[in-house]
Amino acid sequence: MKIFVTPDVDRVTAQYLLRRWPQLRVLGLATGRTPEGLYGWLVQYFYEGRLSFADKRTFNLDEYYALPPNHPGSYRATMVRLLMQYVDLPPDRFHVPPGLTEDVEAACRNYEAQIRAAGGVDLWILGIGQDGHIAFNEPGSPPDSRTRLIRLEESTRRANADFFGGDPQQVPTHAITVGIGTILEARELILLAKGSAKAEILEAAVCGPETAQVPASFLRRHPRCRLILDPEAAGRLLRRLENGAVNGHPLQKVHDGAEIG
Ligand code: GLP
Repeated sequence: MKIFVTPDVDRVTAQYLLRRWPQLRVLGLATGRTPEGLYGWLVQYFYEGRLSFADKRTFNLDEYYALPPNHPGSYRATMVRLLMQYVDLPPDRFHVPPGLTEDVEAACRNYEAQIRAAGGVDLWILGIGQDGHIAFNEPGSPPDSRTRLIRLEESTRRANADFFGGDPQQVPTHAITVGIGTILEARELILLAKGSAKAEILEAAVCGPETAQVPASFLRRHPRCRLILDPEAAGRLLRRLENGAVNGHPLQKVHDGAEIG
């Protein structure tokens, strides 16, 4: 795992993606507040003619259940609002787990099959929940978990209430999420985090035991995983910095205009 700390998570990540763009055929995407700025940069690069989605395919991590696809709080609608409405991704190559389906198990198997049929995900962008969840893999999710229906923690529903008029009770109780096993199969991972509220859980994920209680701790098993963090999210890790590394994971501070490797 490589850790990068920068006040400009969005731009640094966007520039890295731009450099890697020709090699990325299948992109994994995330929702939440954290990647919103990154998507803004991708839209700008698209308008500047610096990248195209015409030959890409995307898979999102998760979707609330049960929500119709046009519900404004749905992750499908969110991705359309932030990114898909602006870029040239063919609509049939934009995949999000279904928010409504008659047969949940079949839909989950089908999502995994679609990812496999696409040749797997080249690079998956991730965020992290304050309880250590990645996608909606709440604490207790094993490292070999696959796409499935999951019950959301009350703390997760509270954290996401802003997208549902500020009322946690309006946040769906369940979601369909890819599993940790699904995520670990991507060829490359980038986890983004911003703000001091994420500092403690990032310390647990990087320095604590690898445990299902902190699902993000399993990212340490991945051979090509980068964390791109702002200084607030990295606060606790920076305190543990020894000889340029935290718990054996190299940490680099990225200054104005610099790029990450
Ligand atoms: C939701 C999403 C996660 C995301 C997390 C963090 O729970 N399912 O994929 O990483 O929120 O969200 P935020 O970026 O808003 O802190």
